[in-house]
Amino acid sequence: MTPPPPGCAALGAPRTCVPGPLAWSRLSLRRLLLLLWTAAASQGHPRSAPRISTVWRGHARQDHIDFGPAEPHTVLFHEPGSSSVWVGGRSKLYLFDFPKGKNASVHMVNINSTKGSCRDKRDCENYITLLEKQGEGLLVCGTNARRPSCWILVNDTVMLLGERKGYAPFSPDENSLVLFDGDEVYSTIRKQEYNGKIPRFRRIKGEIELYTSDTVMQNPQFIKATIVHQDHTYDDKIYYFFREDNPDKNPEAPLNVSRVAQLCKGDQGGESSLSVSKWNTFLKAMLVCSDAATNKNFNRLQDVFLLPDPNGQWRDTRVYGVFSNPWNYSAVCVYSLGDIDKVFRTSSLKGYHAGLPNPRPGKCLPDRQPIPTETFQVADSHPEVVQRVEPMGPLKTPLFHSKYHYQKVVVHRMHASNGETFHVLYLTTDKGTIHKVVESGDREHSLVFNILEIQPFHRAAAIQAMSLDADRRKLYVSSQWEVSQVPLDLCEVYNGGCHGCLMARDPYCGWYQDRCISIYSSQGPVLQSINPTEPHRECPNPKPEEAPLQKVSLAQNSRYYLSCPMESRHATYSWRHEKNVEQSCEPGHQSPNCILFIENLTDLQYGHYYCEAQEGSYLHEAQHWELLREDGAMASHLLGHTCALAASLWLSILPTLALGLLVH
Ligand SMILES: *[C@@H]1O[C@H](CO)[C@@H](O)[C@H](O)[C@H]1NC(C)=O
Ligand SMILES: *[C@@H]1O[C@H](CO)[C@@H](O)[C@H](O)[C@H]1NC(C)=O
Ligand SMILES: *[C@@H]1O[C@H](CO)[C@@H](O)[C@H](O)[C@H]1NC(C)=O
Ligand SMILES: *[C@@H]1O[C@H](CO)[C@@H](O)[C@H](O)[C@H]1NC(C)=O
Ligand SMILES: *[C@@H]1O[C@H](CO)[C@@H](O)[C@H](O)[C@H]1NC(C)=O
Ligand SMILES: *[C@@H]1O[C@H](CO)[C@@H](O)[C@H](O)[C@H]1NC(C)=O
Repeated sequence: MTPPPPGCAALGAPRTCVPGPLAWSRLSLRRLLLLLWTAAASQGHPRSAPRISTVWRGHARQDHIDFGPAEPHTVLFHEPGSSSVWVGGRSKLYLFDFPKGKNASVHMVNINSTKGSCRDKRDCENYITLLEKQGEGLLVCGTNARRPSCWILVNDTVMLLGERKGYAPFSPDENSLVLFDGDEVYSTIRKQEYNGKIPRFRRIKGEIELYTSDTVMQNPQFIKATIVHQDHTYDDKIYYFFREDNPDKNPEAPLNVSRVAQLCKGDQGGESSLSVSKWNTFLKAMLVCSDAATNKNFNRLQDVFLLPDPNGQWRDTRVYGVFSNPWNYSAVCVYSLGDIDKVFRTSSLKGYHAGLPNPRPGKCLPDRQPIPTETFQVADSHPEVVQRVEPMGPLKTPLFHSKYHYQKVVVHRMHASNGETFHVLYLTTDKGTIHKVVESGDREHSLVFNILEIQPFHRAAAIQAMSLDADRRKLYVSSQWEVSQVPLDLCEVYNGGCHGCLMARDPYCGWYQDRCISIYSSQGPVLQSINPTEPHRECPNPKPEEAPLQKVSLAQNSRYYLSCPMESRHATYSWRHEKNVEQSCEPGHQSPNCILFIENLTDLQYGHYYCEAQEGSYLHEAQHWELLREDGAMASHLLGHTCALAASLWLSILPTLALGLLVH
C-alpha cells in the first residue's frame, strides 16, 4: 500500500489534513508529473483504461436498506418485472421491496438449521446458498449445519424438503455452481463431505447421473454454466467456464488458465465400465484474453455474462468475460457462442497425433446413441482442443483493459432514442463500486466509453451479488450490510446544463425541456448525441454558462496546483492563464483531472485561470480561479491548504502512478 503524503490523514479522507511539515520534495513532485505525462503520452491505444467521470451515490431509504446484523454471505434472486428481490443470508431469507417513489421495506423469515453435525458456531448456521424459482414457490437451499438441505417457500410458508446433496455445499465459501433446466439439475458441489475432494461437474437430477473424469480438470474454480439450445435438440450443449492450474509448468507460463468446456446435454454416458457414468462428450478449450499489440495478458477469468442475440440466433450470443492479471488489472473480452462451438467442432486434440476416431470426440449423437468406447478413450485422455477461443473482432483483442480490479459483470442491451443499439456493461470493482461502460458499434469497430461510477451503498463494502432486470432497467446488489436498487438511467447526475448532459454521452439520457432526463421518462423527443464520432447537435442555449469564480490567496514563491475534473471523455481540457494555454489534456488522459502545476509562484503568475473543455466547435468553461497575492501569509494556513491539495492530487494520480511503475 502506498503511504499517504506526510501530514495528511488517511488516503480515504483527503480533505481532513492537519497542518504539518511539507515533506513532498520538489524531486518527488517532478517524478509524479513525469509519470503522469508518460502515461498520458502512451494513451494512443484506444482501448485502454476507461476513465471515470461522474459519481452517483444513491438516494437514502429509497434505494438501499440495511440487513441489521451483518450478513457475511448473500445470494440474490430477482424475478424480472417485480420490484422486489429475495436475499438469502445466514439462517434467514429476506424479501426487500423497492416500490416506486416510496421507502424500501424488508421482510424476514428465519430458516434455521435442522439438527446437523456441526462443530463450531459458524458451522452450525444455515448459510443460504441457492434461491431458485420452482413452480409457484421459491426453492431455498443452504448448508444447514453441514447437512445441505432445501426448503420450499409457497404462499409465505416455508416447508422443509429435506437433505439435498449437490444443491448446497457443506460450507458457504465452497466453489459451487448449480444449473437448472426444466427437470434437470447440474451441479459442481460435492455430495460427500469427506470423500470425493476432486471437483466434478455432475448431472444430479434428470436422466442418468453423470460426472466428469477426475483427470480432465486440475483444481478447477467454476465460474458460470449455461445451457444452449442449438439447431437440433440432440445437439443441445452445456457450456461451463472455469479456471484451472496451468498444465504448462514452464516458469514463464501463468499459474492459472481460463477455460470453456462443452458437454452434450443428451449425453447418456458410455457402455464400458470406465465410461458408464461419465460424461462422454467433455472437451475443453483455452479462453484467451490478451492484447498482442501491448503484450498484456489477462489469464484469470473472474466472471462471465451471456447476452443472447435479440433475434434468437444462438451463435450470436455474446459472451462477456472479465479477466484479471497478477497485478489485479482487468480486461473485458467478448466471444461469440458460434466461435466457441466452431472450436469444439473443428479443432484437433492437444497431444493426440493419430487420426481422430469417428464419431469425433465431443460430437453429440442423435437418437440417444451411445458414444463408442474408442471415441470416449481418446477424448478422456486428450480432453483439451488445440485451437484457443479468441475474442470477437478482427484484432481479437480485449474490448478494453483497465487498472481497476473488476470482479463481476452484467450487460444491458438498450436502444437510444434514435434506435441505435448499445451494450452497457456494469462492472463491480473491489472497492464496492460499479462502473458503467458503454460499448457501441458493430463487431468490427466497437468503441468503448466510460460514463459513470456508481456507489450503490451507504457503507463502502465489497459487492457480494449483483442481478440485472433488463426490462425494468434496475440493478440489484448486495453487500454484507445492505441491499440496493440502482436505476440504470441515472440522468440527474450530469451537471452543466444541456451541454453537460450531451457531453456525458450516456445513451439512457437526453436533454428535454431544460432538464437532463431519462429517455424512458420523456414525454417528447429528447436531444441525444452519443457517438463520440459524431459532433453533438445544438443545444437550445448555444452559449454555455460561465463557471463560478473561485479565489485563493497565495504567498509569492509558493507551490500550487489547479485541478479540473475531466467530465467528458471526448473533450480536450486546457488551463488558460490570460491568453496563454499553460496545460492541455487530450481525451484519453489517464488521470481523471487535468492538472496545472505552479512550482514557484512568481509575480506574473497571479491572476485569472480558466479550465476550458473543447469538443469540436463547442467550448465549455469548467473552472475559473483567481490567484490572489497574500502578504505576510500565515505559514500554517498555507501549509494546511497545500496539504489538502496534495492529498487530493495524490488520490487522483495514484492509479496513474501504479500504472507507470508496473506497466511502463
Ligand atoms: C422515508 O424514510 C425517511 C427516514 O426514515 C422519512 O423521513 C421519510 O418520510 C420516508 N418517506 C416516505 C415516502 O415514507
Ligand atoms: C430460529 O432461530 C432464531 C435465533 O436463534 C430464533 O429467534 C427463532 O425463533 C428460530 N426460528 C424458528 C422458526 O425456529
Ligand atoms: C397458494 O395460494 C394460492 C392463491 O391464494 C392458491 O391457489 C394455492 O393453492 C396456494 N398454494 C399452496 C401450495 O397452498
Ligand atoms: C491459480 O494460482 C494460484 C496461485 O497463484 C493457486 O493458489 C490457485 O489454486 C490456482 N488455481 C486456480 C483455479 O485459481
Ligand atoms: C488481487 O486481489 C486479490 C483478491 O481481491 C487479493 O487477494 C490479492 O492480494 C490482490 N493482488 C495484488 C497484487 O494486489
Ligand atoms: C522561487 O523563485 C525565487 C526567485 O526566483 C527563488 O529565490 C526561490 O528560491 C525559489 N523557490 C524555490 C522553492 O525554489
